[in-house]
Amino acid sequence: GRDRKIAGDLLAHYDVHARRLPWRVPPGSNGADPYRVWLSEVMLQQTTVAAVGPYYTKFTERWPTVEALADAADADLMAAWAGLGYYARARNLLACARAVAREHGGRFPDTEEGLRALPGVGAYTAAAVAAIAFGRRAVVVDANVERVVARLFAIATPLPAARAEIRAAAERITPDTRAGDFAQAMMDLGATVCTPRKPACGVCPLREDCAAFATADPAAFPVKAPN
Ligand code: ADE
Repeated sequence: GRDRKIAGDLLAHYDVHARRLPWRVPPGSNGADPYRVWLSEVMLQQTTVAAVGPYYTKFTERWPTVEALADAADADLMAAWAGLGYYARARNLLACARAVAREHGGRFPDTEEGLRALPGVGAYTAAAVAAIAFGRRAVVVDANVERVVARLFAIATPLPAARAEIRAAAERITPDTRAGDFAQAMMDLGATVCTPRKPACGVCPLREDCAAFATADPAAFPVKAPN
């Protein structure tokens, strides 16, 4: 059906157009390092892909494993984080690394539920790590994905009330395999094609499947509640 076609079309596009980001393994490969996936996803909360790049490289060179990070001095970690902002994230990062190193033998839990129990790991990060590092069928919804889904289904309910509908639709289109590639493909589409103001529908692999594209103004979705 249509839901399967969306995932298939998107993954075929991702195979060719995936952004080559420093924390990514190539499309279709398994076994991204959970430590690297987790580190990048924490850094990417509230910080852009472009800004995260050099920090991610610096961190993984200095602390190549979760055990190495767990042994870092608080002050060294905070100094390396300087510039990324939201310093509570840095403190949680260290608490999480220490929990994984000391309570989990250096291995990240491989389920969303197990990941959620770690310090500073919320629903988004747990789903992203479960899908990208462990190939779990997890539904990964950030602001970019929210916009893509609201457009695909022309969801007329305004944000924030639309969130439940958006999540249910995201759940329906998430494939049983390649959930990590699918999640990252949705994020890439939102960042590069299905952009907030002037979406590039002419190059979108999901144009035929998109209910918003069939309207006069695809950028009108997601609908915002009037202030
Ligand atoms: N934003 C958050 N996580 C991301 C990822 N894995 N790829 C691209 N953009 C992202």
